[in-house]
Amino acid sequence: MNTSLVRTRNAFESFLYRKLLKPMLFMQDPEAVHDRMARFGVALGSHGLTRALVKLFFGGAHDPILEQTILGIYFKNPIGLAAGFDKNAELTAVLPAVGFGFEEVGSITGEPCAGNPKPRLWRLPQSQSLVVYYGLKNDGAEVIAKRLRAAEFGNVIGTSVAMTNHPDNLDMRHAVLDYAKAFKLLSDIGDYTTLNISCPNTQGGQPFICGYKLDYLLDIIDEIPSKKPIFIKLSPDIAKKEIEDILAIAHKHRVHGIICTNLTKKRDNARIIDKRVPSVGGMSGKVVQGLSDDLLSFIYKKELALPADKRFVLVGCGGVFTAEDAYKKIRAGASLIQLITGMIYQGPQAVSEIELGLAELIRRDGFTNIAQAVGADVR
Ligand SMILES: Cc1cc2nc3c(=O)[nH]c(=O)nc-3n(C[C@H](O)[C@H](O)[C@H](O)COP(=O)(O)O)c2cc1C
Repeated sequence: MNTSLVRTRNAFESFLYRKLLKPMLFMQDPEAVHDRMARFGVALGSHGLTRALVKLFFGGAHDPILEQTILGIYFKNPIGLAAGFDKNAELTAVLPAVGFGFEEVGSITGEPCAGNPKPRLWRLPQSQSLVVYYGLKNDGAEVIAKRLRAAEFGNVIGTSVAMTNHPDNLDMRHAVLDYAKAFKLLSDIGDYTTLNISCPNTQGGQPFICGYKLDYLLDIIDEIPSKKPIFIKLSPDIAKKEIEDILAIAHKHRVHGIICTNLTKKRDNARIIDKRVPSVGGMSGKVVQGLSDDLLSFIYKKELALPADKRFVLVGCGGVFTAEDAYKKIRAGASLIQLITGMIYQGPQAVSEIELGLAELIRRDGFTNIAQAVGADVR
């Protein structure tokens, strides 16, 4: 489909979503809506014909200016689905048709986990955010590894690994072995692995943001053979000094990139407009956007002191609703972008809108490939 047709289609779908579908969906329980959408996505992904229809309705117009090869992985565009939407890796067949350039499945834990008691997902509509308190609900690494081995991926796949939300993991050695179990089972599946050390909703908090604990975890991970690049996903809530320690430790190990960021737990955030905010859970969307943008440019600046081949690849995540949001992260140092909440608030055509808009912004500024724009505001 040519670009102007895709634009017209997107504008029509955006109107329908905002005026019709979203008001109906937002009257219902968020987790129930998510589960229903996921089941629908599985059904749509299961046949070539339905996948082709999804592509017709939502697919992007491919633009070579957005193509990159990063750490040996070819990305047709830089827009990925962030971890947490496809927790059990069931949507790998349908998501490429929606226009995503890559997908991160999970987070996946060593053992299956039912997650925290419901309710555990809320909307903050005025703040354009979600409050997430799932507590790493997932089928566990064994089941998901088997599912992924049987799946066909039309896209780059990242496997996000976290520690099982269980009291046994209050013991650090146990928690490390739990990470290692999931890492090992997924070590040869997909294109990259993310170590999620920043889930705000697990028992015992985020122990691996502490330097010596992260060092110990990465020592164990270093010993597990895997050809896949490794990313670490950070919280936006940790102090800059801790971030510097984490970067120094990560550079000593087999780590190739950083994802900025996970959800924020901090309630003293000027972007929270809604009056009622649950006391538990982490917040996504517009509430986390500024924090993740700040951390991204902070890390990019630090990394500039290193030779180019030693720097981490950065992934910007948090509050991307539009092409302008994505471009800001790219100019702050992100080579890749991830999102969830933007798609929920704007509609699934947002992926294609961002793809088209991003290509336009990159061209407007005189770049001939997205890679030239990475870090342009910081360098
Ligand atoms: C419903 C939901 C579930 C999430 N679950 C996970 C998860 O399992 N692992 C993870 O690393 N991040 C998880 N996240 C965080 C997202 O990956 C992302 O970092 C965050 O939502 C900010 O991006 P956004 O503003 O585009 O949603 C989740 C987010 C949402 C909204």
